[in-house]
Amino acid sequence: MNQDQLKQAVAQAAVDHILPRLDSKSIVGVGTGSTANFFIDALAKHKMDFDGAIASSEATAARLKGHGIPVYDLNSTAELEFYVDGTDESDERLHLIKGGGAALTREKIVAAVARTFICIADASKLVPVLGAFPLPVEVIPMARSYVARQLVKLGGDPVYREGVLTDNGNVILDVHNLSITDPVKLEADINAIVGVVTNGLFAARPADLLLLGTAEGVKTLKR
Ligand code: 5RP
Repeated sequence: MNQDQLKQAVAQAAVDHILPRLDSKSIVGVGTGSTANFFIDALAKHKMDFDGAIASSEATAARLKGHGIPVYDLNSTAELEFYVDGTDESDERLHLIKGGGAALTREKIVAAVARTFICIADASKLVPVLGAFPLPVEVIPMARSYVARQLVKLGGDPVYREGVLTDNGNVILDVHNLSITDPVKLEADINAIVGVVTNGLFAARPADLLLLGTAEGVKTLKR
């Protein structure tokens, strides 16, 4: 199986997992990226079996609406059982690096609200130690240089993601050369820098379930 087929397999596995637990009032949190897109396409076949979705980005909202799935405002949604999203890296404890698609802040907000965060990924995303994938940090534009200097003090090499503005109107610094042995601490340390909106470490709130697409089939890892 190629990488897209593995992504498709985990997207379908996520739909199979949540579908028996949905009813006509259910709202599903939906992530961003190519794996999340496969999930949206698979979920759309069952759009009569749930109410609608919360989108973690404008791109995801557009894809959901394109399928005729209602998209709701998170502020008017009290209950969210499931959030389903891809990742750029996961370790065995389901700590993640996300934000390759620049949607990390909204993704983190929806993940925080959801009772169950199901991460879907092909096998290449599972790593022993986080950090080979550059860590995305969303930054208020006027703070970019200051935040970059602070990130260097934390041992990273930040690179400005040129030409990218997030859905929130901010910029992204991708931090290279971090070996992240304590993701919970590093997440908090980076978030404490003035001007940082959030960073792509999902460690304080990791995934609850990782559906991993492998050549031998979909494997389930639990926290
Ligand atoms: C977007 C993300 C994505 O989940 C992450 O980049 C993985 O993307 P893909 O499913 O395309 O590999 O965090 O901000």
